[in-house]
Amino acid sequence: MNRVCSRILSGAASVVVTLIIGVGNAQEPGDHQYTSAAIEAGSRVYTQQCALCHGPQGDTVDGINLRRGVFRTASSDDDLRQVISGGAAQGRMPAFSLNPTELDGVIAYIRAGFDPDGVAVRIGNPERGRALFTGKGQCAGCHRVNGSGPRTAPDLSEIGALRTPAALQRSLLDPASALLPINRPVRIVTRDEEVITGRRLNEDTYTVQLIDSQERLRSLVKADLVRYEISQTPTHQPTTLASDEVADLIGYLLTLRGLQ
Ligand code: HEC
Ligand code: HEC
Repeated sequence: MNRVCSRILSGAASVVVTLIIGVGNAQEPGDHQYTSAAIEAGSRVYTQQCALCHGPQGDTVDGINLRRGVFRTASSDDDLRQVISGGAAQGRMPAFSLNPTELDGVIAYIRAGFDPDGVAVRIGNPERGRALFTGKGQCAGCHRVNGSGPRTAPDLSEIGALRTPAALQRSLLDPASALLPINRPVRIVTRDEEVITGRRLNEDTYTVQLIDSQERLRSLVKADLVRYEISQTPTHQPTTLASDEVADLIGYLLTLRGLQ
């Protein structure tokens, strides 16, 4: 109930879209993520066919932790499909002829972190995701990555290390529920009648720090402000990209782990 209410308040243009997505999320995950039936089926396949080598926690093959999503070369779901169906390392990882349901299931189980109640987000191709980020998705118009791009939105250079796939998906599909308290847009009027809009970075009892709309870092003393409004509405609109494209974007965001 709460979620629906907050969406209705969250801006006229996006209401129809968000409500549809919201209902979809509550009942069935749609094709942005695997179903719990798939995860369940995958857990059986895993126990019967994979656990022997990879272990019940998925961490017994050197350099690989299936439960945590640590692989040698694979990153997207298609990569996993290829390794499972084709084998790897001269047959030390054998090729399996699973049917599509079993194959989807075992990938879902891995993506859910081996948790039958987990969320198994589809993870697409990082290269295509990068192209979407700078192109059609227009993400680079607001977000900074590895030193390039504006500062008005959060810097995403390390986002892959900071957020789970499920959290990233939520930021794209349901930004209102993903909005971190500290990131909220603010509108401020000072005693000198300057109007400042921006994104809050930090705040204590006496001061507030923000990035203003000209990308300047500002620190303001609250006693000097005549208005200080914190918006509950995210800057993000729920994405209109197709679910495959969302999967590709998540695949790309997960590769952003800071400059190493
Ligand atoms: C006979 C032992 C064995 C079995 C059974 C097995 N694997 Fe593997 N698997 C391996 C080995 C060894 C590697 C490491 C290959 C390498 O060195 O690149 C591996 C690697 C992988 C990788 C990582 C590939 C990469 O590029 O990072 C995935 C994913 C994987 N296995 C999934 C599975 C799944 C799912 C099953 C069950 C359907 C399974 N494995 C069954 C031995 C096995
Ligand atoms: C109009 C500017 C704008 C555009 C375009 C935009 N974002 Fe954002 N994004 C923001 C802002 C501002 C936030 C902080 C939360 C908020 O206000 O919604 C944010 C938050 C995020 C977060 C959450 C960050 C965190 O710390 O968890 C992710 C992930 C993200 N955006 C990814 C994307 C992707 C991918 C695209 C392209 C499909 C995109 N954004 C397009 C402005 C934008």
